[in-house]
Amino acid sequence: MTAIIDTPLSELDPSVQRRFQTGEHFAVFDRLRAEAPVYLHEKTQYGPYWSITRYKDIIEAEANPKVFSSDAAYGGIWIKDQPKDTIRKSFMTADPPEHDVQRKVVNPIVSPMNLHRMEEEIRDIVNLVLDSLPLEEEFDWVSHVSVEVTGRVLCKLMDFPVEERLDLSNWSDIVNTDVDAGTEITDEYVKLEKLRPMILRFRQLFSERAAMPPQNDLISMLAHAQETLNMEPQQFVGMIVLLMVGGNDTTRNSITGGLDALNKFPEEYAKLRANPKLIETMVPEIIRWVTPVAHMRRTALEDIEFKGQQIKKGDKVVLWYCSGNRDEEVIDDPYRFRIDRPNPRQHVSFGFGIHRCLGNRMAELQLRVLWEEILNRGWVIETVGDPIRRFSNFVVGIDSLKAVIHPGR
Ligand code: HEM
Repeated sequence: MTAIIDTPLSELDPSVQRRFQTGEHFAVFDRLRAEAPVYLHEKTQYGPYWSITRYKDIIEAEANPKVFSSDAAYGGIWIKDQPKDTIRKSFMTADPPEHDVQRKVVNPIVSPMNLHRMEEEIRDIVNLVLDSLPLEEEFDWVSHVSVEVTGRVLCKLMDFPVEERLDLSNWSDIVNTDVDAGTEITDEYVKLEKLRPMILRFRQLFSERAAMPPQNDLISMLAHAQETLNMEPQQFVGMIVLLMVGGNDTTRNSITGGLDALNKFPEEYAKLRANPKLIETMVPEIIRWVTPVAHMRRTALEDIEFKGQQIKKGDKVVLWYCSGNRDEEVIDDPYRFRIDRPNPRQHVSFGFGIHRCLGNRMAELQLRVLWEEILNRGWVIETVGDPIRRFSNFVVGIDSLKAVIHPGR
């Protein structure tokens, strides 16, 4: 910690993944927000990039996609540049008008009517998963609950065979593996090779759904949409991958991070058990607290003066959501997990503007139903030890968290 406080800003690279595993990254962002909220880091593992760390500035940059582009053609949304021939483009990595046309195709999946319909299906999934858990015995909350709930919900959304649900989680993990993490996935080409079975499977599903009458699942929606008629197969796959990854790791880590937070703040857990109605405000607070996506990157398409700094055309600009969500100027006592905040949706975990997360209500729904059913059972879930966090500056991932269920306490 001392090292972070004493290091000159010009030497600090906020992207260092190891700090995201220990929580030390927060000290870096505290300094940036206080001393240099829009700052050009010259010497980093990814070359020069700007950090935007204050809540209001992140929102302002996101509201200006004409200047701050997400398009893969200019660099996309990850801090680390990807080799061009490995990028699977989707509407998340597209600017208007391409972005808007494609987003419209899948929007019905999150319509209030569809979410209402999904609620009972999600409840059945949650109960199936909870029924399978051991009581008074240690187990891994991530593999038994977080992965199972999100994987099964995704299967419903895509009408994907539920027996193959672990493939979805594994593929999503591969997509999100940091190539510098020291795993066998050492570069984007190895990653692409590992994802070949996924690409084949999605192409096959796509052709099958296109040959069938339209259904209410995501793949069928894509296969039958007017807007996608002229798309290359690679683009379809890119869209399916986006929905799979978007809906998987993020929600999974919120489910795990929420349990971790409740155990780290036992007074909040006690409040929740005394008043289950607080689930409503707890769910967005979990998502703020966890901030499952640490950053999004943009590329400046023109020179712009931003908060007194001169950002040049072509510069890489990183929006640090994990910092915006700890901005004391906007969020009262931000390091405190508090399940009854008066304005709990005031966070940037879902981004802002045209790219704001399409699945935000779907994610909240899964968390809400899960906690409703846990409280209905009168369970108290105690974590054992600390979570094992992933080496990544993009996905705030928890790979394992041991827990014990105490029934009827
Ligand atoms: C976009 C976070 C769950 C689908 C995003 C963005 C973030 C995000 C930060 C980019 C926003 C921006 O650039 O301004 C999260 C978090 C989730 C979650 C924290 C869970 C807690 C989901 C789910 C789905 C989903 C469940 C699908 C069912 C998408 C899609 C986009 C997106 C399709 C691209 C939107 C666009 O570019 O227009 N999400 N997400 N997400 N998310 Fe999520």
